[in-house]
Amino acid sequence: MKILSINGSRRKTGNTEYLIKSILTSAKEGGAQIESIFLGDYNIGACTGCEGCRSSWECVIKDDFAKIVKKIDEAEGIILASPTYWYSVTSDMKRFIDRCYSLIQFPVNRKKWIAKYQGSGKVCVTVAVCEQSEESMMGNTLSLLTDFYKDIGLDVVESVKGLGFFEAGSIKADHNLLQKAEMTGQKLFDRIKG
Ligand SMILES: Cc1cc2nc3c(=O)[nH]c(=O)nc-3n(C[C@H](O)[C@H](O)[C@H](O)COP(=O)(O)O)c2cc1C
Repeated sequence: MKILSINGSRRKTGNTEYLIKSILTSAKEGGAQIESIFLGDYNIGACTGCEGCRSSWECVIKDDFAKIVKKIDEAEGIILASPTYWYSVTSDMKRFIDRCYSLIQFPVNRKKWIAKYQGSGKVCVTVAVCEQSEESMMGNTLSLLTDFYKDIGLDVVESVKGLGFFEAGSIKADHNLLQKAEMTGQKLFDRIKG
């Protein structure tokens, strides 16, 4: 079993990464193969809207984007996570999401699309962390990640949000939240095991 986590934060010991680690606990203990990546380590340019992917499921821009798609292809479970930057996902995450335009096709008209991972059985968890404790300050971070994942055909098992964390790693002190994240990870693991 392969599980991939994709983190839009550049803080390697940041709050988002600690939540991801907790979610991955049961999969790790259960012997799953885990790969955790930071989008900031990859060179992913902006989508140009060129429509070059229209009938190929492949983006024509030659950078590191295809490497991440290959990792998603190979994973049964995926965690997609981002801190809130100005009420939304980070720019690393947004560039990645925009490039995933190549993972949907509109064969008949623009109202209905088909998604590369539809029916693939891949399951995922979405994660968002922000500094302020009012949920409105998270903006669309979590809903964007979740809606995007559904659009590309992935089955979102659950979402985890961390409200009220600013200093990198401060989330470690919130044992209740980390425990909740572990339980979400257990659900993900159980769903993949079937
Ligand atoms: C550029 C920038 C914009 C931010 N915008 C918001 C925001 O709109 N709302 C909020 O609650 N926190 C905001 N934050 C705080 C981060 O979401 C918070 O520090 C989070 O814990 C960072 O996660 P990380 O440690 O995984 O990088 C912002 C931080 C930065 C650097």
